[in-house]
Amino acid sequence: MSFAVTLMNWYREKGRDLPWRTTHDAYTIWLSEIILQQTRVEQGTPYFHRFLDAFPMVTKLAEASEDEILRLWQGLGYYSRARNMHKAAKMVVEDFGGKFPRAYKDVICLPGVGEYTAAAIASFSSNEPRAVVDGNVYRVLARYLGISVPINATQGKKMFAEIAQEMLDKHNPAIYNQAIMDFGALHCKPKNPLCEDCIFRMECVAFQEKLVEKLPVKLKG
Ligand code: ADE
Repeated sequence: MSFAVTLMNWYREKGRDLPWRTTHDAYTIWLSEIILQQTRVEQGTPYFHRFLDAFPMVTKLAEASEDEILRLWQGLGYYSRARNMHKAAKMVVEDFGGKFPRAYKDVICLPGVGEYTAAAIASFSSNEPRAVVDGNVYRVLARYLGISVPINATQGKKMFAEIAQEMLDKHNPAIYNQAIMDFGALHCKPKNPLCEDCIFRMECVAFQEKLVEKLPVKLKG
């Protein structure tokens, strides 16, 4: 079985049921991804519900005052995220007629949306074949393929982005992307990964060569 199929089978059984995973609405997905950018799932989830209750549509968020948004954001930190969120909502109203864009090329133009977030929105909302690359993806791919190129060097970032895109299941980008992130978060963990009980133990280069604890490589500084 291919890497992607094995991974998605694992996800079907062991993946998390997270509230933003049951929707294809780009606005809802964007909201969840902005909140989760520097925040853990457990901490971010109540905020996600609070924001969606207060602003069920992007037009409502655009109309809100910055004070109101910052008040709801209180406790999450990195307040530039909230300010960018407001700016982005206004841009959606002005430039996209209030309909939240789904295409990677459009969402990447919004303030606060980088490559990871744009790939997440585009793949989760409309199955656009864009691989997400976050810390989980770096770890899973570095270990599975045995790549010791530093993930935070320019060359490494480019290399991992290309490999992630090659590995992506182009027919199921939404499920594949969720699956690889959950696999990194729950199974192929930074500390104490569950290698003895891993679906990839026979093929994983890091496991076979006893390099799991050494990968991924990150340059200090
Ligand atoms: N962290 C950031 N985005 C996430 C997502 N879509 N699911 C789980 N954790 C996340």
